[in-house]
Amino acid sequence: MKRIIEQYNDRLAKVYDEATGGEFKWKAAKESTKILLPKLGKQSKILDLGIGTGQSSERFYQLGHTIVGLDISEAMLKVLKKKFPRIKTHKHDLEKGLKSLDFKPDSFDVVIGVGIFEFIKDLKKLFEQIARVTKRNGFLCFTFEEYINDHPIQGNRVTSLGQGLVAKIPRLISFKVYRRTVGEIKSLLANLGFEILATKKFVGYLKSKKKIPVYYALVLARKI
Ligand SMILES: C[S@@+](CC[C@H](N)C(=O)[O-])C[C@H]1O[C@@H](n2cnc3c(N)ncnc32)[C@H](O)[C@@H]1O
Repeated sequence: MKRIIEQYNDRLAKVYDEATGGEFKWKAAKESTKILLPKLGKQSKILDLGIGTGQSSERFYQLGHTIVGLDISEAMLKVLKKKFPRIKTHKHDLEKGLKSLDFKPDSFDVVIGVGIFEFIKDLKKLFEQIARVTKRNGFLCFTFEEYINDHPIQGNRVTSLGQGLVAKIPRLISFKVYRRTVGEIKSLLANLGFEILATKKFVGYLKSKKKIPVYYALVLARKI
């Protein structure tokens, strides 16, 4: 039985690029690309967690870097493969961590996670395994939806997603969004031997007809 989040993303896949491009304006992939680009060497090996249709790796693909993408949704990966055939993909639920994928320790120059970590309950476990596969001096670049105590949506630590990105799929609403503060994420990273190089806050998108801004934090860290 597929998890609801997989069913949701399978249905979203066909319209994802269109829906994130127009009025909705998904900024997270652009923001992370901008901050990471100047840091990359000539031929980097990049692991993109929750790669979706590939927006978070598009520029790096065009520049010839080697990309491995993970996603829970087969349909997302199908759209991705059409656009970026050289990306190696694994259909994988990140809630299970990375262990079953047999990645070697210190095997990636860069790990990216854009628009994914708010869907992961046990982030400590996943981050520990990310630290294991990231090379020394390698980069971790990710966004997450922040916990903000006086925000109408983000003032909740955990909520159901609510009506989907696309109004046509409001029935599949019962998967969770988990929010953390920048401070919590910073201490998690410090305990795993990551040095934070930069953080930035931005409006990831405007939610629902009321256009409520949803705030994301972007973190660029280096494994020391
Ligand atoms: C908001 S999209 C972001 C996609 C891409 N990174 C981007 O910036 O456009 C989130 C992606 O994470 C995937 N996802 C959600 N939960 C997941 C999980 N537990 N394991 C793996 N992928 C997951 C979804 O299928 C979807 O493709």
